[in-house]
Amino acid sequence: MNPPNTTCEVDLPLVPVDLIVPLEQVGKLNPVVLYHQDGSVYQVDWYRVYTCNQELTDWVIENFPIEVELVEYVVSDQAIIMHTDLGRNCAYNYLIDTGGTDIVTEFYSSDKTQMLDSIEYQPNKWYGLNVGIPHRVNGTQIRPRFLISVTPKSGVTYKF
Ligand SMILES: [Fe+2]
Repeated sequence: MNPPNTTCEVDLPLVPVDLIVPLEQVGKLNPVVLYHQDGSVYQVDWYRVYTCNQELTDWVIENFPIEVELVEYVVSDQAIIMHTDLGRNCAYNYLIDTGGTDIVTEFYSSDKTQMLDSIEYQPNKWYGLNVGIPHRVNGTQIRPRFLISVTPKSGVTYKF
């Protein structure tokens, strides 16, 4: 039961559109405080994370075959430099808006010298991501990138 080597599409149902809070209203939800590796707060205006509305969270819990820790909306206004996620090595993402037509997510070897995979995520599909290795979002965004990100309970991953 390991995370994917890099990323792959997973067979989970489409999120009912009426459960998704529109981007214009997401700012009213509870923001998630982000941290740097050294424990200091990471706050930038171009990358924002919010706790999903209860209706969507309940739907995810019901429809995922694994125990879920967090269900969050992520809004980013620009590409994201290479990083490794803190506090999780696996994520399940569902793009509501890709932010543009040529936006790719790239996964790298742990020494960051070799690109292992490059994928253009399609909206309205679930993907599993190995976020425990270096990865980045690359491309020219023309509008905010908006997605749902599910964090499994630690140690639990979906069987791909
Ligand atoms: Fe990440």
